[in-house]
Amino acid sequence: CGIVGYIGNRQSQSILLEGLKKLEYRGYDSAGIAVFTDQGLEITKTVGRLANLEGRLTSEPLRGTVGIGHTRWATHGKPSDVNSHPHTDNSLKFSVVHNGIIENYLELKEELMHQGHRFVSETDTEVISHLIAGLYEGDIVKAVQKAVRKMRGAFALGVLTEHEPDRLVAVRYASPLIIGIGNGEKFIASDIPAILEHTRDIYILNDGEMAVLTRDGVELMTIEGNFISKDVFHVDWDLMTAEKGGYDHFMLKEIYEQPKAYRDTMRGRVSEDGKSVTLSELSMTPEQIRAFRRVHIVACGTAMHAGMVGKTIIEQLARLPVETDVASEYRYRSPIITPDTLVIVVSQSGETADTLAALREAKRCGARVLAITNVVGSSVAREADDTIVTLAGPEIAVASTKAYTSQLIAFYLFGLYLAQTLGTRDEAFVANMLAAMQALPEQVERILAQAETIKEIADAIAHNRSLFFIGRGVDYAVALEGSLKLKEISYIHSEAYAAGELKHGTLALIEEGVPVIALLTQEELFEKTISNIKETKARGANVLGIYNEGQEAEVAKSVDSQFAIPRTLPLLTPALSVVPLQLLSYYASLALGHDVDKPRNLAKSVTVE
Ligand code: G6P
Repeated sequence: CGIVGYIGNRQSQSILLEGLKKLEYRGYDSAGIAVFTDQGLEITKTVGRLANLEGRLTSEPLRGTVGIGHTRWATHGKPSDVNSHPHTDNSLKFSVVHNGIIENYLELKEELMHQGHRFVSETDTEVISHLIAGLYEGDIVKAVQKAVRKMRGAFALGVLTEHEPDRLVAVRYASPLIIGIGNGEKFIASDIPAILEHTRDIYILNDGEMAVLTRDGVELMTIEGNFISKDVFHVDWDLMTAEKGGYDHFMLKEIYEQPKAYRDTMRGRVSEDGKSVTLSELSMTPEQIRAFRRVHIVACGTAMHAGMVGKTIIEQLARLPVETDVASEYRYRSPIITPDTLVIVVSQSGETADTLAALREAKRCGARVLAITNVVGSSVAREADDTIVTLAGPEIAVASTKAYTSQLIAFYLFGLYLAQTLGTRDEAFVANMLAAMQALPEQVERILAQAETIKEIADAIAHNRSLFFIGRGVDYAVALEGSLKLKEISYIHSEAYAAGELKHGTLALIEEGVPVIALLTQEELFEKTISNIKETKARGANVLGIYNEGQEAEVAKSVDSQFAIPRTLPLLTPALSVVPLQLLSYYASLALGHDVDKPRNLAKSVTVE
């Protein structure tokens, strides 16, 4: 989601709208603004693209010099007028825009309902405005601090109250927020592009910090109320760079957003004691789960590759037989779909025509359908019986990165959920795996810190005409994704092969200098994969080994270059090993001078069969 706020002497409506336009890439299923007008705090909000809101505001403008605005990417509650931000309370005197997720909002909502609060939306944000209103005793800053202490999750907030029309309160907790410093005017925004036109001097809030803005000043403090001071950050980026958060391309930005996407997708879905998975969004009952006899995973492209890892996850954790299929094939092969089949469709956009057609076929045959998607309210989410939303945030680059890895996280969570419901894994196993999952974001950060090493390798391979990715088990599924990434954006021909299958034909293509990227993260299959690597080396291949930290010495004997990933459980390695492959394709594309974010012939979302 995107947040913008203004306090100054100019009309706020156009400043808010222009700011939201710059943030539209962060979410675009609904938008709204709240402004102090002569009538008090007035809110206009609509579902759909920002243009809808702009249309409404052109005919009925909100006049005033203080306001907040929001562009939404739904997480709780479908996109609709009433679920759009800003939200307010029953007195209509408080207004809140929010980016993030409040994990305990249902608890808080119940408490507030007991106190007589009435709610109109399904959102967690509405709960915040009621909470603040309920705690207000004449000082908005204190009320916000008290409210924030009751909230768990991730949030960036902009808060206004009619009782104190000359103050705008901003809070950051694990969701980005910046403060813009102008002359006689101040701004808040979730990202720099929204305010770059007005000021280049900003404060970047850290987690747990808040700011109180007036026309003439900014007070900075912690959410506990201790005053702090900060250096002003002067932005010297142009707008294009700012939109990409300072990165050269959306793809690189999205690769670097993965630790956050992992955390967001896990947030609220792991019990507080870390021993179990809670997927409260699922309506399937334990009885229904116990009745499943088989699972089909159906998707296209990168989502399909996530599904291939998903197959291993579900088979290993829940001991249910799983088939995977590309959506465009699925319904034409008369698959055996029975009412005891669980069909999982995976789609970043939730709009892919092939996937949607497969979903409809599955439903027609009486299967239960679970969607794993990144877009709340998408067609796939609406038509499935159940949905697990990946919280990767909008993905702009055509080549999918953070959506893929968030889909993996969703599969891990769902696999564990099945295991704990079916009793195929005990509590200690689940707790151990959840602990390893919680470590993944930091481990991805460690990989990202070595991007320079990958760049050097990419520069060296970029001028080859063809290359190979090999691996066994889940490494093979990751090899497929690594190969697809490279093909999509660098246009270098590549093939992914199950390492043991190479000798049954494709080995004929290995000749002097052909790059082979070998994944070796599966302990049990390590020796066998080393043998396959040697087969390629004997024909002159130039091998890059991707393996687990600590095996440098064994790997070094068989490869030409190497990259280690941090240690994790064997089932979890795809969430790490794919990251160097994403970087590799990014840097190869860059070295060749291609349009990284918009590769030729491809579209982000394909809505034709
Ligand atoms: C298109 C994109 C791919 C994507 C596939 C599935 O082909 O170019 O990157 O993996 O669609 O998209 P979905 O939105 O269903 O995950």
